[in-house]
Amino acid sequence: MMPISTASTWKPTDHLLLIPIIHQSTDWAEIPPLKNVQSERLTKHFTGKKNEVQWLFTEKQTIVLFGIGEADSSATAIIRSFRHFANRYAEKLTSKLAVYTHHLEDQTVEYAVNGLLLGTYQIGQFKTEEAPVHAFEQKDAELLIYSDQEVMAFAEKGKATAETQMSILNIVNAPANKKTPQILAEWAKNSAQQFGYESDIWDKQKIKEVGLHALLAVNRGSEDPAQFIILEYKGKNAKQKVGLVGKGVTFDTGGISIKGSANMHYMKSDMGGAAAVLGTIELAAKLQLPIHVVCIVPATDNSVDALSIKPSDVIESYSGKTIEIIDTDAEGRLILSDGIAYMVKHFQPDVLIDLATLTGSAVRTFGYHAGALFSNNDNLAAAIEKAGDATGERVWRLPLWKAYEEDLKSDVADVKNFSGRPIAGAIGAAKFLEYFTDEHPNWAHLDMAGVAFNEAEFSHQKSATAFGVRLLVEYLEELAQVNS
Ligand code: BES
Ligand code: ZN
Ligand code: ZN
Repeated sequence: MMPISTASTWKPTDHLLLIPIIHQSTDWAEIPPLKNVQSERLTKHFTGKKNEVQWLFTEKQTIVLFGIGEADSSATAIIRSFRHFANRYAEKLTSKLAVYTHHLEDQTVEYAVNGLLLGTYQIGQFKTEEAPVHAFEQKDAELLIYSDQEVMAFAEKGKATAETQMSILNIVNAPANKKTPQILAEWAKNSAQQFGYESDIWDKQKIKEVGLHALLAVNRGSEDPAQFIILEYKGKNAKQKVGLVGKGVTFDTGGISIKGSANMHYMKSDMGGAAAVLGTIELAAKLQLPIHVVCIVPATDNSVDALSIKPSDVIESYSGKTIEIIDTDAEGRLILSDGIAYMVKHFQPDVLIDLATLTGSAVRTFGYHAGALFSNNDNLAAAIEKAGDATGERVWRLPLWKAYEEDLKSDVADVKNFSGRPIAGAIGAAKFLEYFTDEHPNWAHLDMAGVAFNEAEFSHQKSATAFGVRLLVEYLEELAQVNS
């Protein structure tokens, strides 16, 4: 990806010079490259509204003024703007780009770099015709940032984040037949090797030996063996151990309680929770965060077969508790129950967070704009909400009241996997997971069904968002700082 350098003072070069403009608040006089531009006329025709673009062909350099909206725009809004710019103007851009940023806040530079690089993302992984290489991806590509040297760290973070996010977009966008549990495990192993953290991948045999029965139950109808992915990054001077568990259902047909076929193809994204935790540990390792992170991803697809579990079956689980299956489409909570129980028993993390594309109910409640957050700890909930607001990967808390426990009482087993009623679906799923946390006092569950897969400028259909990576990394950074 394009190397970044900084320079303090601007002088004309052969780069295309991008000048981000904040709506009606950037002072032209502050920006030396615009010295010879007729600022009065400029103000009349260009105000810096979001995504407003003005090309200026000055004597020595081509300049693009680019509106990034209001001064108080959210992180996501700023990132989106830059991403839109790099994508929309791909054909007009050149491989040498300079961005003038002295008038911007340091953090905005991180978002600018992140957005510009994300805008180069090509979704057509399996097209036989090669897509034209984006200008910023060409061999001689370079990014020059006019700013103070300290801003470099922000720019580099924006780039590191974009690299990981794009890798995550690729695995979530990949079709189910190109991301079997084994392929997902391979991704994790390679990432661990490349970025210097530990990986331990269990095959089906080992999963049987250890007794992850709920994962095995979901995997019964599948041709591809389940995998249990364990990753560990121990940052230097880490004071806190955070356990992350991600739902890795590589395709969800619903099983015997089969889904309707409309939009079933989107169920390739049912490993969005896994992708979020994989991206988070990779980025935490890359940024060398002073935190200890353990990730667990139970991975399988949920398929229909003579061997598939059936509604009414009673299955065992790693925790020892028995589960009555009411609906085989409530498979995510089954594999998570093993992941969570294993995490708590063997790693005893200070903080436990699970992420999953778990319920249609979360989509119906929040649409595509927020994840549903559940937590038994107010401080943890507040910290995750804060990270959500800061990154624009927003979450909204729902209750875990005892009253909802009634819905999970089974006549024949310890618990059932679904109330059987089409109400309070996201809460019911969260209550089920809570049952397997062994009363961990600092647990949060994030149902990201509505936000993992969404509309994007580079795709006709819905596509991956990498939701959760920036949110969790922000949370980890804050946690490390508070405890340093
Ligand atoms: N993977 C789905 C949830 C989902 C729905 C994710 C829409 C993304 C978009 C999950 O496994 C599921 O099928 N949940 C069922 C549970 C129900 C049968 C208890 C649901 O929410 O309808
Ligand atoms: Zn399902
Ligand atoms: Zn599912």
